[in-house]
Formats: sequence, C-alpha cells, structure tokens
Amino acid sequence: MAGVKFWGAALFAFALTPGTALAQATAPAASSAPSPGEYVAITGDCVVCHSLPQGAPNAGGLKMATPLGAIYTTNITPDRDTGIGAWSFEDFERAMRQGISRDGRRLYPAMPYPSYAKMSDEELRALYDYYMKEVKPVRQTNTPNEISFPLNARWPLSLWNWAAADLSRYVPKPGLDPQWNRGAYLVQGPGHCGACHTPRGVIFQEKASDESGTSWLTGANLDNWSAPNLRGDANTGLGRWSEDDIVSFLRNGQSRFGTAFGTMREVVEYSTGRMSDDDLAAIAKYLKSLPPAFPSRELAWVHDDTSAQNLRAGGFDARGSASYMRQCASCHGVDGKGRSADKSKPDLPPLAGNPAVLDPDPASLIRAVLNGVPRLGAQAGTSPDWMPQFRTWLGDGDIADLVTFMRSSWGNRAAAVSAEDVAKLRKATDPQEPLVLRMR
Ligand code: HEC
Ligand code: HEC
Ligand code: HEC
Repeated sequence: MAGVKFWGAALFAFALTPGTALAQATAPAASSAPSPGEYVAITGDCVVCHSLPQGAPNAGGLKMATPLGAIYTTNITPDRDTGIGAWSFEDFERAMRQGISRDGRRLYPAMPYPSYAKMSDEELRALYDYYMKEVKPVRQTNTPNEISFPLNARWPLSLWNWAAADLSRYVPKPGLDPQWNRGAYLVQGPGHCGACHTPRGVIFQEKASDESGTSWLTGANLDNWSAPNLRGDANTGLGRWSEDDIVSFLRNGQSRFGTAFGTMREVVEYSTGRMSDDDLAAIAKYLKSLPPAFPSRELAWVHDDTSAQNLRAGGFDARGSASYMRQCASCHGVDGKGRSADKSKPDLPPLAGNPAVLDPDPASLIRAVLNGVPRLGAQAGTSPDWMPQFRTWLGDGDIADLVTFMRSSWGNRAAAVSAEDVAKLRKATDPQEPLVLRMR
C-alpha cells in the first residue's frame, strides 16, 4: 500500500478551493428566477470553479494549485470544439458520476465528482439540458495542466476511484422525512459540503461521505482555510445554532455567531445564497440532526465579562489585549460582541463565541486578521466597515498574541497560537503575490 499512499498523497493534495474574485459580471442578477437546470447548477456551484475572474461564465481556465503543478478547470460551455457541445448525456453522466472525460481520460478529483455521483438521474438530466441549451457557447481552448511526467499519468486515478471514492447515487433513508432526505441529498451530493468540511485520509479521499462515518463534516483544512466542524458540538460545531441561524448564514453570509468568509464566502455568494428557502431549511434540518462529534471534548461556551471589565479599567496585563483595544475594539467591541442593530445580522461580527475564533485549527482566524475580510457582495474598499488587513501593520508575534487573546477572552477557551503559525500563513497567503488563487 505504500505505493498507493505515495501516489495518492502526491496527486491529491490539491487545493479544492478556487479563486475568489469572480467577475461581478459572472454573478447573475438576483431577480431572475433560475430555470430548473440552472437551479441544479447553482446547488452544485459549478460556475465558481469553471470560470475565471473577469472571464466568461463556465468557460474554464481557473488555475487550481497542487504541490505538483497547476491544473486548470475546463470549458463546460456547449461550444462544440472547445467545450462540451458534442457530448451526449451519457458522456456527461460518466464525467459527473465516475470522473471520466469523453476521451476516457480520468479527471482529477479537484472536480468533486465523488459528491456529484450522488445526484439523481432527474437532476443530472436537467443539468445537462441547461448546459446544452441555456448556457452560451464560448470558444476558449482548455489550458493544459502543468503536472509533469511521471505524475501526469492519469492511470493512478482509476486506482483512487477504486480505493477511495464511494460513487453511488443517494438513497433516501426510509423512516426519515422528505425534508431531512432533501437536506442530506443537497449536503452530500450537489452541495459537496464534505469536500471542504470533511477531513481527508492518506490518499486524500474524504474520510466519510455521509453521516454513517464518524469523521463526516468534522472539519478540515483545505488550501490553508479551516472549514469548521458542522456537527452538533457546542463550541466548535453548530450545537448552539438554531435551524434559522443556519438558514440566515447560508442565505446572507451572516448569523448571530459570525459571517461567511474565506472559501465559504463564494459558496454563499454563488450557491447557497441563491437556493430556495425550502432547500436551505432542508439543509439546516439535516445538519441539526447530526450528533456532536467530540461530545466529551468541550464545555458549552458562555459569555464571561471579566476580559471586557479589564479592558475598560485599562488593565492590559494579558498579552495582545492592548493591541486588541487599539486595533479591533472600535469595531468588534470591548466585550467582543460586535455591533448589530438586528440581532440576526451582525453588521460587525462578534468574536466572543464565534466558532471561527474557537476553531481548534486557527488557520481561517489568522488569515482573517492577516489579510482582512471582504464584505459579502461588496466591491473592494467600498464598505466603510470592511475588515481591514493587518499584515502590513502587525508582526507575527503581535498577531499571535492578539489571536491568542481573542481565543482566551469573553468565555472563549481555545489553544494559544504561535508566531510560527502566523509566519507560515503570512508566507502562504501573501495577497501581493500575483497568484491566481490569491485572496481566496
Ligand atoms: C471545486 C471545483 C469544481 C467544481 C465545484 C466543479 N468542477 Fe467540474 N471540473 C473541475 C476541474 C479541476 C476539472 C478538470 C479536471 C481534470 O482536468 O482532470 C473539471 C472537469 C469537469 C468536466 C470534464 C470536462 C472535460 O473536458 O473533460 C465536466 C463535464 C465538469 N467538470 C462539469 C462540472 C459541473 C456540471 C459542475 C457543477 C455541478 C462542476 N463541474 C463543478 C473543478 C470543478
Ligand atoms: C473597521 C472595522 C473593523 C476593524 C477595525 C476590525 N474588524 Fe474584524 N471584521 C470587521 C468586519 C466588517 C468583519 C466581517 C466582514 C464580513 O464578512 O462581512 C470582520 C471580521 C473579522 C473576523 C472573522 C470572523 C467572522 O465571523 O467574520 C475576525 C476573526 C476579525 N474580524 C478579527 C479582527 C481583529 C483581531 C481585529 C483587530 C486586529 C479586527 N477584526 C479589526 C470589521 C473590523
Ligand atoms: C470550498 C470550501 C467549502 C465548501 C464547498 C463549503 N464550505 Fe462551509 N465553510 C468553509 C470555510 C473555509 C468556512 C470557515 C469560514 C466561515 O466561517 O465562513 C466555512 C464555514 C461554514 C459554516 C459556519 C460554521 C461555523 O461554525 O462558523 C457553515 C454553517 C457552513 N460552512 C456550511 C456549509 C454548507 C452547508 C456547505 C455545503 C452546501 C458548505 N459549507 C460548503 C468552506 C467551505
């Protein structure tokens, strides 16, 4: 198995997370109701990966980083020569369910076909019809992948399919109601939530593909973003969230616990934010049915006012507290509660009890402070309370102290962060680098 492990680890350690700044032009007008097939494409978030910022929607070309070299998403518009216009439904289905292209080439699982394999025949047909009849054909030749010999040999991928991927259709659970089943279908299938939120094993396979697996949706780090635990755990999962909180987060990118940022921002902007109320309610119901993954690990978070009292009294003994007061308190509050007129939609997210702050893996938290957090849907710099970047102003040690302070104040209890953790992410996520994936 050592061979499999090597090939696997090397081949599949890709970034599943494409660039951010999709052209505003790609964002469809919110008012026009999607056709049934377009709606399926929305639930599958196809356009986010298969488009370039400023490029034509679905024409491909987005670079996805892998340690071996870049791979590029493909043109899936119905152009006959450069896109999928000549594909039959069977060709399309084979790519979506088995990860095999029309010419027999194996697709890298950066295309999340193990999730799409769960889609129903009916939805896959509607999706195909949409791509053939409604998407505008765009002539744009695919960019060759930059993975070099011998790792560019695609045959190990068939081994991967055999060893790792569960490629079966979603089967409704008898005894559970249709709403729960719809939620399970969306999360496991088209929504491919597990592609980011489920940890991966040695050959980079998702360790679980549904709730029967203990690792299912327990949180994972992909491309230096931590996608947190979505199970019933009280602090680091969705234990304190109501179904309405989840719906609000998936619809607007905001809940009373925090906002959507990092790669989740695109998920909300292009996919969940455009789903129907019924589908969001179904997802929320399904997620809330998942038990805690680490029941013995955590005490439920409760707000503790001591840190706020210290700050108000000018007591800056805790490392990082003075810098919190200077740089952050004006927006996020001395009490870490953020600011909000309407409780369900914080204008400024709380840091107290925020699952991103409590996450055992501080990657997303550190990145938020280093590189800032763009407001969902807002153009860069246009929002007065846009979360600014601090990489220019604060050193690794300062940010480590600050993050550690947030993780141990207002009732938060999460492990300290070191200057090395910050240094690593500073280097890996420099927004000044002319990377296609920058500002993810
Ligand atoms: C996370 C990014 C991602 C998402 C989301 C995604 N794809 Fe892909 N897709 C890729 C990548 C990368 C490839 C190319 C893989 C390769 O070259 O091995 C690809 C390849 C394909 C192909 C094969 C094209 C060819 O010429 O061989 C089809 C068809 C396709 N995707 C359709 C879709 C559809 C439809 C959706 C939405 C339901 C979707 N993809 C969502 C990343 C993605
Ligand atoms: C000018 C106001 C402002 C300042 C100053 C500010 N932030 Fe923020 N911060 C925001 C806004 C707004 C967001 C949410 C953006 C969005 O997603 O809508 C945010 C988001 C965050 C997040 C991500 C959590 C989440 O749920 O969105 C963290 C962590 C964070 N801020 C920490 C800090 C720290 C630490 C400082 C000080 C070094 C700081 N902020 C200074 C406005 C600010
Ligand atoms: C491309 C990767 C990616 C995909 C796909 C993805 N997520 Fe996320 N998600 C993240 C990241 C990163 C975060 C952490 C940042 C934040 O809080 O917004 C997150 C945060 C969340 C949160 C907030 C959790 C918390 O404790 O703060 C919820 C809820 C969530 N995702 C639900 C979903 C659902 C439901 C799906 C599928 C429809 C999904 N995500 C798909 C990357 C992803």
